[in-house]
Amino acid sequence: MNLAGNVAIVTGGAGGLGEATVRRIVEGGGSVVIADLADDRGEKLAADLGSAARYVRTDVLDDDAVLAAIAAAGELGTLRYAVTAHGGFGVPEKLVQRDGSPADRGAFQKTVDLYLTGTYNVARLVAAAIATAEPGEDGERGAIVTTASIAAFEGQIGQTSYSAAKGGVVGLTLAAARDLSSLGIRVVCIAPGTMRTPIMESVGEEALAKFSAAIPFPKRLGHPSEYASLATHILENSYLNGEVIRIDGAQRFQPR
Ligand SMILES: NC(=O)c1ccc[n+]([C@@H]2O[C@H](COP(=O)([O-])OP(=O)(O)OC[C@H]3O[C@@H](n4cnc5c(N)ncnc54)[C@H](O)[C@@H]3O)[C@@H](O)[C@H]2O)c1
Repeated sequence: MNLAGNVAIVTGGAGGLGEATVRRIVEGGGSVVIADLADDRGEKLAADLGSAARYVRTDVLDDDAVLAAIAAAGELGTLRYAVTAHGGFGVPEKLVQRDGSPADRGAFQKTVDLYLTGTYNVARLVAAAIATAEPGEDGERGAIVTTASIAAFEGQIGQTSYSAAKGGVVGLTLAAARDLSSLGIRVVCIAPGTMRTPIMESVGEEALAKFSAAIPFPKRLGHPSEYASLATHILENSYLNGEVIRIDGAQRFQPR
């Protein structure tokens, strides 16, 4: 199935990995709804891309907002794809703090809500919409790409919430692919290592150099365009399904 002539929703579409994916989809001839909460960046990106893109303010945890993004996608053409790349929240915290107090349960819940429940919510609502599209070759109707992290496998000290949330995103991949198989909708998860997005750049060059040193090859952070290239490849490659793909330069996180 091709991007050309079809529509995708990208959550976090105004963010680092999301924006690169949005641009790549449009380059491939598709249309995109940028579903994000960053109004300025989202509006500007949509304006840059012209009639092939639209920004819809969307909280992934708000059903009405996700349904509005789906409705906007329908106005652009046939919705067949979603890429979930929303995020940003995360409080590093050990289970037991230096002063002996236990970690904050609320912060854990908030992290799981954003990354895991948000991904699940978008997947269920978008899949129900894609299910109404006419099937193409092999009965395929579309595909959903989710974003985990290599922290799902090698969570670092202080990362229990984020690792658990991303581990959940990994865990739902095969079950979701099986659930949606009868509808001709594929589900594939990307687990990025350390990608050079604005949020990562904000840590400064010294910290970035430290990250790069821990990456076997290439000895640098990943480019958002490399994530986008993988995401759009997955959308177009009908035989990829139910799998989690690492994109990390062979990086394996150490405990800290
Ligand atoms: N950058 C990395 O190194 C890296 C590594 C592994 C995994 N990831 C994952 O990739 C995803 C994207 O990361 P990024 O670096 O591009 O982050 P980013 O902060 O650049 O972009 C995330 C976007 O999500 C939006 N967002 C936040 N909450 C939202 C909500 N409730 N509903 C809709 N949109 C919301 C933000 O406004 C932002 O534009 C995240 O899930 C992150 O955990 C990133």
